[in-house]
Amino acid sequence: MELNEWKRMLIPYEQAVEELKIKFKGIRNEYRKLGEYSPIEFVTGRVKKISSILEKAKKKQIPLTEIEEKIEDIAGIRIMCQFVKDINKVVELIRARDGKDLKIVEERDYIKNIKPSGYRSYHIIVLYPVQTAEGQKEILTEIQIRTLAMNFWATIEHSLRYKYNKNMPDYIQQRLIKAAEAAFILDQEMAEIREEILKAEEQFRAKSNIVSDIFCNIHNLCSGGIEEAGELYQKFWELWEEGDIEKLQDFNKKVDTLAEIYGAQKLM
Ligand code: GTP
Ligand code: MG
Repeated sequence: MELNEWKRMLIPYEQAVEELKIKFKGIRNEYRKLGEYSPIEFVTGRVKKISSILEKAKKKQIPLTEIEEKIEDIAGIRIMCQFVKDINKVVELIRARDGKDLKIVEERDYIKNIKPSGYRSYHIIVLYPVQTAEGQKEILTEIQIRTLAMNFWATIEHSLRYKYNKNMPDYIQQRLIKAAEAAFILDQEMAEIREEILKAEEQFRAKSNIVSDIFCNIHNLCSGGIEEAGELYQKFWELWEEGDIEKLQDFNKKVDTLAEIYGAQKLM
């Protein structure tokens, strides 16, 4: 194949990578705009370099006429998550799209089945259709989903593996396995904190909901011309400064009852 043929072949791969990056970043932005936690932290993507395609084809004895069917990661997307649990969520998001804007070909769970090297990640191989000038073309794409810790490890390991090419000294290999264990423990530790973060966020939401409830009730009392409204505001600020959610909840019940009573009187 001459250079121009390579370039022509790779164009739809570039298209697939760009489109998928936009779509996954779009999901992340959707969560952020709604003020919700996003299971996607960030997304990257790349088209494999010609030199790497040639190396892989040689290593796996793939004839050049079959690289498009046999090399699954010419187009590659990487989705990084903060927590291991988020990976499941992202996998679910992708599965929900199977048969819609992509087709799942294979899933490889290297988180349950850690590789001997220490590598962990969840891989989904998909067929993604792109519209070219010559019509639709389905592009094999490898989506790697991993935590920040898994990504850190894999990136470093990859450059060392590349540096030493098959001749990685044994002591470095041992060190990398130890580092992989450390990354695994880091993910576990973060999972513990995740529960704390979710609880904190929930409390925060609960508090702001009560606050807006109280405001709404006092406002209604005010516009009903109730004399105690000023006192209620005062009391509310005191409780708010104290910051005790349960006291705010009790107070809200009282204001709620008052609002009901006055509302009922008005109807009589
Ligand atoms: P290659 O590993 O790419 O030759 O293909 P494969 O058919 O063995 O597929 P596999 O699912 O094992 O790997 C696909 C991709 O996962 C690789 O191209 C890497 O990006 C990544 N990967 C797999 N194993 C390792 C590993 O031990 N270290 C690192 N850093 N990445 C790995
Ligand atoms: Mg491999």
